[in-house]
Amino acid sequence: MKILLIGSNGQVGWELARTLLPLGEVVALNRDQVDLTDLEKLRQTVQTIRPDVIVNAAAYTAVDKAETERDLAFLINAQAVDVLAQEAKKLNALLIHYSTDYVFDGTKDAPYFENDATNPLNVYGESKLAGELAIQASGADYVICRTTWVFAARGNNFVKSILRLAAERDKLNIVADQIGAPTWARLIAETTAPILRQAQLERGANTFESGIFNLTSAGETSWHGFAEKIVELAEINCVINPIPTSDYPTPAKRPANSRLSTDHLTQRFGLTMPTWETTLKLCLEELK
Ligand SMILES: NC(=O)c1ccc[n+]([C@@H]2O[C@H](COP(=O)([O-])OP(=O)(O)OC[C@H]3O[C@@H](n4cnc5c(N)ncnc54)[C@H](OP(=O)(O)O)[C@@H]3O)[C@@H](O)[C@H]2O)c1
Repeated sequence: MKILLIGSNGQVGWELARTLLPLGEVVALNRDQVDLTDLEKLRQTVQTIRPDVIVNAAAYTAVDKAETERDLAFLINAQAVDVLAQEAKKLNALLIHYSTDYVFDGTKDAPYFENDATNPLNVYGESKLAGELAIQASGADYVICRTTWVFAARGNNFVKSILRLAAERDKLNIVADQIGAPTWARLIAETTAPILRQAQLERGANTFESGIFNLTSAGETSWHGFAEKIVELAEINCVINPIPTSDYPTPAKRPANSRLSTDHLTQRFGLTMPTWETTLKLCLEELK
């Protein structure tokens, strides 16, 4: 099996480049090797490699900047994804792609299911939703994994920002009225591997059905609760002060409720997600 991994230098992509290795021949490409803003080159790259599976971990992820870079966000998160889906369809390849809780508006008072109505609050969420819709319209076999609040030992993320800021300051003000599940990039990769394998077996047996799956850690917290746990586990003396979203204005609006139910993932693939605290501990051990 030949697996084309796109975005191999991102938080999730870097983990996938390692975790997918036992499944087949992995061709892992970073932005220098394939730039998603060059749609024709992207198309040619897929046609030359002729993968059995495409895993797309690349994305425009600058949520606030997207408000003023709408065209670029849509080019990478929707048009390039459309090209990948079209090429997957032509090659009869499986497309595995990642999306986000930001396709929802966060007004539901319970965890979101995959088929709940979407209503993105910001440009990033709109562009990611457009990518999902392009995949669904392509006729390709696909698995879309919606994830939330990604952290890792590499890259720019909340854990690394809090570790840096808490070491510099006595007190940090952190938003306490947005809730979700912090999700370790390695967990996403290690969940993707069995999904990929099972999907390929089902495709071979003609029993495969494409679908969207929520893929997050178990449990929930606020950004404030997440920050408190980070400083506690890292044994840093810093007071984490809760504030409302209204006290921390950002260019992009964010959903108050980012919780996603992973029941569908568990039922279909038999995978049980660990709590966010369990994986945070493992990530912090790695950072030490
Ligand atoms: N981060 C989160 O909190 C979060 C939450 C929900 C869903 N997601 C989704 O999860 C997936 C993985 O996200 P992540 O956290 O791993 O993101 P990330 O760390 O920001 O990685 C994104 C990768 O995409 C690459 N990329 C950006 N523009 C590109 C282009 N024009 N051509 C080729 N590659 C390009 C980046 O390349 P460089 O390394 O060169 O910059 C980077 O390696 C994405 O689909 C994202 O939308 C993320």
